[in-house]
Amino acid sequence: MQAAAGYLRCMWFLLCIGAALAADMPTKLPPDRVRGRDLYDIHCWACHGRMALGDGPSAALLGGSAPALAGRGSPADREARIDLVATGKGAMPGFLAVLDREDSGRILLWLEGLDPATGDDPEGNRIRRVGDAAPATPVPDDDADAEAGGGD
Ligand code: HEC
Repeated sequence: MQAAAGYLRCMWFLLCIGAALAADMPTKLPPDRVRGRDLYDIHCWACHGRMALGDGPSAALLGGSAPALAGRGSPADREARIDLVATGKGAMPGFLAVLDREDSGRILLWLEGLDPATGDDPEGNRIRRVGDAAPATPVPDDDADAEAGGGD
């Protein structure tokens, strides 16, 4: 009886360790918003802008502008916007042949979460490139303490 209880406790312990390890395992696909970011940076930025503020270089070539997308849209209108991305509108081509609905949804999810004024991502997933504007919220300087406390 005693032995059986000990055995069960031991198995339970191993099970918990297994679950904890599995939780830390990298999943095969990146999170939806990160995939959305990467797809945006391939298919959409040229017109809608690096920071999704509507100032992409190709929009000017079209003789007009593309709307800002940062912080626009919501889960409620995502399906309608997925339709728009699939079929295109005005000077915007349709992406039906390039993006499935899930991937279009991931791009829109990425855009919904951006700061509408700066295009920054509050979750910190924005990749900054040479020439991009400085982040609106400065990245904390890890060396600040060392510099202040140095004193020689
Ligand atoms: C060739 C330039 C171009 C590309 C590339 C492009 N767009 Fe657009 N997009 C536009 C233009 C122009 C409009 C405005 C269309 C209109 O209202 O006449 C627009 C409109 C939109 C709208 C509607 C915005 C609103 O508030 O009305 C969404 C959403 C959108 N685009 C998403 C995307 C996504 C996602 C991609 C990449 C998969 C993309 N666009 C690629 C030019 C482009």
